[in-house]
Formats: sequence, C-alpha cells, structure tokens
Amino acid sequence: MKTNMENGGLKMVGRVHQSPSSILNPQSSPRVPSRWRKEVEGVLITDAQLARRVKSLAREIEKDFRGRELVVVSLLNGTVIFLADLIRQLNLPLRLDFIGVSSYGSGTESGELVFTKELRLDVRGRDVLLVDDILDTGKTLGRVLPKLRALQPRRLKTCVLLDKPSRRVEKKVRADYVGFEIPDVFVVGYGLDFAERYRNLPFVGVLRPQIYKTFSTADGH
Ligand code: PRP
Repeated sequence: MKTNMENGGLKMVGRVHQSPSSILNPQSSPRVPSRWRKEVEGVLITDAQLARRVKSLAREIEKDFRGRELVVVSLLNGTVIFLADLIRQLNLPLRLDFIGVSSYGSGTESGELVFTKELRLDVRGRDVLLVDDILDTGKTLGRVLPKLRALQPRRLKTCVLLDKPSRRVEKKVRADYVGFEIPDVFVVGYGLDFAERYRNLPFVGVLRPQIYKTFSTADGH
C-alpha cells in the first residue's frame, strides 16, 4: 500500500475538462452508495465514466499498435480491475504478464520500492504496453521503465488510468495514454486501495480524511 493525499479537479485527458468544484461538490457529484458513505466522501469518477474512458483508451491503443501483437505488462496489485476492463476492450492479439512492485511508505508519502514479482515473458523485440492504475510521484514508473527498456522491446508505451501531475517528483516520467488527470485528492476504488481496502469499489471515490488519519494514528504511520 502506498497512500496518496491530494485536492482538486478531474480532467479526462484530451477530452472533457471538469472543474474541481463540479467533481467534489456534493450537489453535482453522484451520491456515494450508502454502504460506503461513512468512509468515502465523494465519487470522483463514476463507473459509467470509467467504462466510457476505458473503451476510448482501447481505441487509441489499437490505432497505435494496429497489425502488431502486444505484450501487456501490468503492475500489481492496483491495476487489476482497470487491466481486466482494458484488455477486454482491446481488439488486438496480446499476451499478458505482471510485475509485482509496491511502495511501502510511511503515512502519505511513497516509501521504498519492493519488487515482489519479476516479468516472465521475453519482451525483446516486442511491442510492450505497460499498464498501471495511477501515476503519482512517478517513482514506480521511474524504476520500472528503465528495467523494461533494458530488455530491449521494439516499442514501449505506458498506459495509466489516473495521473496526478501535481504530485510528480520524477519530472521526466510521463504516460503515453492517460485515462483521467486528477487533482491532489485521496482516491480509492476501481483497484486503488487504502491499507489494501476499497479496491472493490466500482467507482473512483475520495476517502474521508478521518479514515486515513485514524489509520495513521493507530498504526504509527
Ligand atoms: C501505487 C500504484 C502505482 C504507484 C504509483 O502502487 O499502483 O503503482 O503506487 O505511485 P508513484 O507514481 O508515486 O510511484 P502501490 O505501491 O500502492 O501498490 P498497489 O498497486 O499494490 O496498491
């Protein structure tokens, strides 16, 4: 688990721009389902918005990789729900592999990166699409991309569902395909966790501060 703190607005990259207030304003955002309301203060991206954007991302990727076989390399664990939806929309032949990488941080900052699973497929000379759920500080992709480049793929592109550019530490790290540019808010759901929880929310929501603050106090993070 790596936690994330942020505040702000949501942008569907290259498409719809929505103001921060319209996203986080309870009068205009969809209601959080009652079973999550105690912990989640707002819906940042609805399941319908996610589904639409995943489809359009798949069309962009297909256009760029037409006539090729892809190796999709996905970063565990947060990416699994986005990945499952994305690859089912991709009308391309592909093989799938995973890299396990986690940042075990204290509090809300990225900590040390630990590789928990290495790539098994040979990507030399292949077209590779690296998929992750969120690009935050860029430390994860900053470590993974050079590792993959060293394996000499023919082409290497990166796809992330969420991008928080305001948090970037590794300034050179960018994704080729971005689902939504989001502000500095604490997001969970659709694969993203807090303390390994909330990954199963069907939408991207904003966690109530008392949840991560209570956890930090209780656990000493
Ligand atoms: C999250 C997320 C990204 C990474 C992005 O992983 O899945 O891989 O952080 O953050 P960065 O740009 O600041 O490096 P996490 O370590 O929380 O593991 P998880 O995927 O198991 O949730």
